Amino acid sequence: MDISDASRTTTQTVTDYDRAKEVQAFDDTKAGVKGLVDAGIVNIPRIFIRPPEELVEELTSHQTNFQVPVIDLDGVRGNNLEEIVDQVRAAAETWGFFQVVNHGIPLNVLEEMIEGISKFNELDVELKKEFYTRDQTRNVRFNSNFDLHYSRTANWRDTLTISTLASTNLDPNEYPEVCRDAAREYIKNVTKLAETLFELLSLALGLKAEHLLEIGCPKEYILLCQYYPPCPQPDLTLGATGHSDPSFLTILLQDQIGGLQVFHDNQWVGVQPIVGGLVVNIGDFLQIISNDKFKSVKHRVVASQVGPRVSVPCFFMGHNAEIPKSYGPIKELTSAENPPIYRDFLASEYFSKRFSTVLDDNSPLHQLKL
Ligand code: OGA
Ligand code: NI
Repeated sequence: MDISDASRTTTQTVTDYDRAKEVQAFDDTKAGVKGLVDAGIVNIPRIFIRPPEELVEELTSHQTNFQVPVIDLDGVRGNNLEEIVDQVRAAAETWGFFQVVNHGIPLNVLEEMIEGISKFNELDVELKKEFYTRDQTRNVRFNSNFDLHYSRTANWRDTLTISTLASTNLDPNEYPEVCRDAAREYIKNVTKLAETLFELLSLALGLKAEHLLEIGCPKEYILLCQYYPPCPQPDLTLGATGHSDPSFLTILLQDQIGGLQVFHDNQWVGVQPIVGGLVVNIGDFLQIISNDKFKSVKHRVVASQVGPRVSVPCFFMGHNAEIPKSYGPIKELTSAENPPIYRDFLASEYFSKRFSTVLDDNSPLHQLKL
């Protein structure tokens, strides 16, 4: 997949300091945001501080009582299928987000995954450094801010990535040992849940249950193990800048700290953690192939003095690495009255558009419109 530096044009930001130099110095520590916190900083470095116009806008936003829909998957293989499909359709069409409970993944598998990721981040920094790289050809890599060198504002988080995109022969022996068993078990379970969800989404689109499986939607994945250290000045930065996901579907495991927000009805709505629950959201690719029936919705993570927070989104990417496949609006969903809105695209093309701009509001969806 082409997400190399060559495909990017760095977005120029006007600053009165040598941002590139400070960013490089931070990257060179290979200790991530946790390294700053461990060093006892009181004021966050300016590379993390959001532009003044954003901070002013934030002061005018207000809280709401909205709640992302919660869908109980109990009985999905039995009497409750039709009701569940209706709920999935309603959520995918409006929120683009829902939470699932009784999804079949044992609670200990979820808890051990979160614990494993905490333990990895808490390793001696010298051990973590062995994994620190921006080399996209590595299946397993650790770094802080995948877009550090071209984003406008760095985010308050560190990430361990496990991805099948560089090579579908993902060897669990490459995972850090502290989280190896937990990650292997979680991946096995979450990919199985993804298949169930793609069946439900196919039915919700009025297609046969296997449709999204047959076009390979759950085929490859990127697991991002996110670690958000406590932040001494949370109002000045973000854990993750607002974005929509570059995937067909994302399944997110989070601990009980909270901080994920979804942009709904012109406001940021918090996604309340549920013990044993998982957050599911529609990504850009599914919005495109559903011809805008399902919505890929913008979301972000706020920073907090409470933490660390751990979350593990798994992005289901379709066919990418070995046999790249082009995707476009599903024929059965378009007609003379409802013509395709998008042209066919390769994930690599999508990524080169996405990474030619900063993370915020960067969805290439509009560039793929016919
Ligand atoms: C992401 C994301 C949310 C979270 O990594 O794309 O939206 O809660 N993460 O970590
Ligand atoms: Ni996301």
